[in-house]
Amino acid sequence: MTKSNSIRYIGAYDKSIDLFEGLYTVPEGITYNSYVILDDKIAVMDSADIRAAEDWLDNLENALGGRKPDYLVISHMEPDHTGSLNDALKRYPDMKIVGNAKTFTMLPRYTECDISERKVVVKEGDTLSLGSHTLTFYMAPMVHWPEVMVSYESSEKILFSADAFGRFGNAEDTGLEAWSDDALRYYVNIVGKYGAQVQALLKKLGGLDIDTICPLHGPVLESDIKAYIGKYNTWSAYKPEEKGVAVCYCSIHGNTKKAALLCADEILKTGTAVKTHDLAREDMSFAVADTFRYDRVVLAAPTYDAALFPPMAEFLSRLKSKNFQSRTVGIIENGSWASMSGKLMREALSGMKNVTVLEPAVTVPSTVKPETAKELSELALEISRV
Ligand code: FEO
Repeated sequence: MTKSNSIRYIGAYDKSIDLFEGLYTVPEGITYNSYVILDDKIAVMDSADIRAAEDWLDNLENALGGRKPDYLVISHMEPDHTGSLNDALKRYPDMKIVGNAKTFTMLPRYTECDISERKVVVKEGDTLSLGSHTLTFYMAPMVHWPEVMVSYESSEKILFSADAFGRFGNAEDTGLEAWSDDALRYYVNIVGKYGAQVQALLKKLGGLDIDTICPLHGPVLESDIKAYIGKYNTWSAYKPEEKGVAVCYCSIHGNTKKAALLCADEILKTGTAVKTHDLAREDMSFAVADTFRYDRVVLAAPTYDAALFPPMAEFLSRLKSKNFQSRTVGIIENGSWASMSGKLMREALSGMKNVTVLEPAVTVPSTVKPETAKELSELALEISRV
């Protein structure tokens, strides 16, 4: 993997998984990345999900070439990176485990092995010499769990970045722009809640000379490193990446959908970028990602059982949990009697930081009449001008 050939990729590609974290569709699968550093001492950098245990252990065995690993560095305890850990601990009984204090509070829950004599506890700034390679550890709490840490290998200027800079799909390096799309969906949905903690990590990394980023998912990043870090800086600051509108709707009988798509068409006519999402039919993680991508959002939902139609209620709950903020939002509500959806969308948005709701909202009186179409055009014009 690296010029010296002493750092090897031993990750596994899981193409058959249906839902990552039991929630997110991954049409191109996901990789569980792991690396091995071959030096006087050998360090294995993370393991893999139980689904890929056999592949990962085979890859490790091949890379070791008959040697035994001295250390397993655990940067993140989540099971997509530690599901194979128990097998590895049994197979290599002399292998020490490198983690921080929080790692070792969690680790016993994930293994039946006695690890009491195998622990190497590190803290911020500690180093581990392997020979010509040296790892320095930086704590990265809540990027994405409390025990997360990243490791910097100084001789080859490699950052082992844990979940940060990960991407859904395979490990093929497709360049910054192609990476960005599914990396944004990954970032927002997996780590998006923890923007402040990601910013803190980026600040720490600012002092490092990084040539290569080795994340726990997706491709190893070997060029344009500053541009990748720039993307993370934008996303974690909750700044929009592009100007445009995400039109997110749900519809019981098609009338709210008609209103939302009409509004989207009118926005498009102004030359503003638009993406539409049917919240009941798509994996919502795509729509959530687009609310981070764009600076504006239109929400369209009907009333249902005197409440908000469930797909929109779920969507707003996800936005809240991802700390959605600092955006302008237009509202389209619908209801055949006692319309509640507009009020409830406003209430949900009022609990989010720096969200500006455009006035007036459009009320669809069950179906889109000519006067409603006019109001939708006006909303489209107004949101296009923001
Ligand atoms: Fe890839 Fe937070 O685990």
